[in-house]
Amino acid sequence: MLTQDEIKQLVAKQAAQLVQNNMTVGIGTGSTVYWLIMELGSRVKQGLFFRAIPTSKKTATLCAQQNIPLAALNDVTALDITIDGADEIDPNLQLIKGGGGALLQEKMVAAASRELFILADETKLVRQLGKFPLPLEVIPFGWKQVQRHIQATYNVKASLRTKDDQPFVSDHGHYILDCPFNKIEHPGILTYDLNAIPGVVDNGLFINMADMVLVGYADGRTETL
Ligand code: 5RP
Repeated sequence: MLTQDEIKQLVAKQAAQLVQNNMTVGIGTGSTVYWLIMELGSRVKQGLFFRAIPTSKKTATLCAQQNIPLAALNDVTALDITIDGADEIDPNLQLIKGGGGALLQEKMVAAASRELFILADETKLVRQLGKFPLPLEVIPFGWKQVQRHIQATYNVKASLRTKDDQPFVSDHGHYILDCPFNKIEHPGILTYDLNAIPGVVDNGLFINMADMVLVGYADGRTETL
């Protein structure tokens, strides 16, 4: 039986084969994507040439360490594909992302891509979104107003994400509120409602964005959804 990390490595290795010469590729963030970057790094050593648009500073650093050429989102008109991980995936391929705090840049890069390809181990598949606390990226100014709004409207206790006892600060200088909705009945409506709250920059629901999911299982099988 494979460990969770071995499953992540397995799907990442398979997905790396999607990257072909001269492509422009969005590279997600997280522990699954880490293995993707390692695999792409070895392919670059063997002569593969592509441009990577990173979705976080962490990913940019890892790509640079692997000599993967980087470009900025503003430098391209469109991306061939973005490959990323997810925190939850429902049967309609709707996602919760942002466990790593990179949701804003991940969503912008994915939105500019012809295809969003998601990598997952089997634990990420759910019948209904919401067990994983939904990350909400907020402007630090007045963030407590957003927290109150979430509590009053949805009866959900939004917690400020912290790191080393300080507020976690995203690559774009924002805070993250983690919102345990538990069950999200209408993710398409919720995403619009949340983004309409003053002070909210974006939320971790990726609705109608994923084109394909490559999921790996502990017995070593993989399948595409
Ligand atoms: C980061 C993300 C990640 O894709 C998500 O958290 C999955 O991470 P991992 O591959 O480490 O399980 O959305 O913001």
